[in-house]
Amino acid sequence: MKDVLALIEQKKKKFAQLPLFEFMQDKSIDPRQRLAFAPCIAPFVMSFGELNKYAFREEPTSDPIQEIINKHTYEDDHHWIWLLEDLEKLGIDRALKFTDALRFLWSEETNISRRVAYELYRYTVQATPIQKLVVIEAAETTGNVFLSVSSQVVLELKSTSTTNQEYRYFGGGHLVVDTGHTYCSPKAKRFIESIQLTNEERTQYFQIVDKVFEVFTELTDEFLAYTKTHNISQPFTTKAQQEQPLKVALLTHR
Ligand SMILES: [Fe+2]
Ligand SMILES: [Fe+2]
Repeated sequence: MKDVLALIEQKKKKFAQLPLFEFMQDKSIDPRQRLAFAPCIAPFVMSFGELNKYAFREEPTSDPIQEIINKHTYEDDHHWIWLLEDLEKLGIDRALKFTDALRFLWSEETNISRRVAYELYRYTVQATPIQKLVVIEAAETTGNVFLSVSSQVVLELKSTSTTNQEYRYFGGGHLVVDTGHTYCSPKAKRFIESIQLTNEERTQYFQIVDKVFEVFTELTDEFLAYTKTHNISQPFTTKAQQEQPLKVALLTHR
C-alpha cells in the first residue's frame, strides 16, 4: 500500500498547482469573490455526506479496514451542514424559485460537481475495504489541498469584515477535523501502510487514484470558470445577464 500512498502524495503536489488555487490566493481579488464558486460545490458536498452513509460505510463488519472506514464515515457524513452555514454567511442564501434551484443544481455549470459523486460511488459501492480506503485517501487529499487554501481566504475575509464570522466549511476548523480523522492517526497509518497488495491490485489502485484526481481536477476547473463568469453578489446571475441591464439603460438613454 506504501506505493499507492506515495502516488497520492505525488499527485497532491501537482493538484496544489492548479489554476483555481492560484486564483484563490490572488490577494488583488476581493476574498469573497475568490469563493464565488461556493454555490457550485453544493451538489458534491451534499452527495459526499450520503456517500459516507451509503457507499463507504458497511455495517456490521469484522474487517479491520472496513472498521476504520466506518469510523471515518461518522466523522465525515455531516460536513454539508457546515457548507449550508457558510453559504448563508457569504450572503448568497438568496430566495430562488424551487424550479430555478433545481435547474441550477442540475445545470451544466454544476455538471462536474455532480459527476464527482457518481465517480466516487462507482469506485466504492460494494468494493473491497482496501479499494474504498484508496478512494477515500485520494479524495481527502484533494480536500486537504482545497481547505488549506480556502482557510487562508477565510482568514482574509475575517480580517476585512466587522462581523468576525467563523466559516465552518471553508475555514481552518474543517481542515483540522479532516486532518485529524481516525484513519490519519499514527496507529491507523502504520496499519494502512503495512497492507500488502498483489501486483494486480497495485495497478488497479494506481488507475483509481488517477481517476479520482482527474475528476477533482475537472471540478477545480468548473469552479474557476464559475468564479470568472459570476459575481458573488449576484451568485446565480451570469456576467452576461449582469451586463444586460446596463446595456438596456445605455440604449434607452440615447
Ligand atoms: Fe470534510
Ligand atoms: Fe473528510
